[in-house]
Amino acid sequence: MKTLAIGNEKGGVGKTSTAGNLSYALMLQGYRVLMVDNDPQGSLTDWYHKEDLSFELADFFSSRDNLSNFILPIRERLDLVPTAKGGDLREYAETKLYRDRFAHLDLVKAAELLRYDFLIFDLNPNLSTLERSAIAASNEILLALEPEYFAYEGVHGFIKQLHRIREENRSDVILNKIVLSNKNESFRGHKYYTDQLSKQDLTVYQIPQDRKVAECLEVSQSIHEYAPKSKAAAAYNNLAKGLVYGRKETVQSR
Ligand SMILES: Nc1ncnc2c1ncn2[C@@H]1O[C@H](COP(=O)(O)OP(=O)(O)O)[C@@H](O)[C@H]1O
Ligand SMILES: [Mg+2]
Repeated sequence: MKTLAIGNEKGGVGKTSTAGNLSYALMLQGYRVLMVDNDPQGSLTDWYHKEDLSFELADFFSSRDNLSNFILPIRERLDLVPTAKGGDLREYAETKLYRDRFAHLDLVKAAELLRYDFLIFDLNPNLSTLERSAIAASNEILLALEPEYFAYEGVHGFIKQLHRIREENRSDVILNKIVLSNKNESFRGHKYYTDQLSKQDLTVYQIPQDRKVAECLEVSQSIHEYAPKSKAAAAYNNLAKGLVYGRKETVQSR
C-alpha cells in the first residue's frame, strides 16, 4: 500500500479537490483506495457524503476499534474515513494527539490489513500535530500550490519543515511532486519556477482552471463523473499515473 498526504500550510490551493479527484482517478485505474479526511473542516467528507455521520476519524483514534467500523463506501473500490465538520477531530488533535504518537501509523497499518492499494490523507491548511502526524505516517507528501504561492522560496520553506518532521518522527516520507491547481495561464513566473523546481527533482503536475472542478463538489461527483472529457479529469489521471508508475523516488538532499 502506498500512503500519500496532500498538504500545504495554505488554504484554498486545491488540496481537497486533488484528494477527491486523484483518489477517483486511482480507482478508475483499478486500485482500491481509502480516502482519509484529516481536516476538521470535513470538506472532503462533505463533497462525497452529504448525509449525517454516525462515526468519524476521531472515533477510530479514540477507540482504536477495527478500522472497518469507521469506513464509508463511496464507490466500488473507493472508501472514506470521514470527518464531521464541527465533530471531534479538532478537539482530539488539540488535547490528545500529542501524546498519541502512533495514531496515524496505526491507521495506516489497519488500512494495509484491509488490502487497500492507496491511502490518501486530505490535510488541513496547517502544520500542527494533526498534519505532522499524518505526513510522518505517509510514504509521500504531495505539495499543493496555486500560482500566487508558486514561489521557489515557499517550496523551500516547506521542505525545511519536512526535514524536521522526518527527523522528529524517524519518518522517511518523500516529496518529489507538486500539484499546481487552478492554473492561471497568464501567470508570468510560471515557466521559470517550473524549470527551477524540475532542477530540484520536483515534478510539477498542473490541473487547468475549470469551473467544473468547483461544481462537481455540489453534486457529490468526481470530475471524472461530472465532466469525463474535461482537461482537468485528464490532468488528474496523469497525476495518478505519476503516482502508480512513479519516477525516481529521490529524497531531498539536506
Ligand atoms: N482546477 C481548478 N479549477 C477551478 N477551481 C478549482 C480548481 N481546483 C480547485 N478549485 C476551487 O478552488 C477552491 C479551493 O479548492 P480546495 O480544493 O478546496 O482547496 P484546499 O483544500 O487547499 O483549501 C474550491 O472552491 C475549488 O472548487
Ligand atoms: Mg481542503
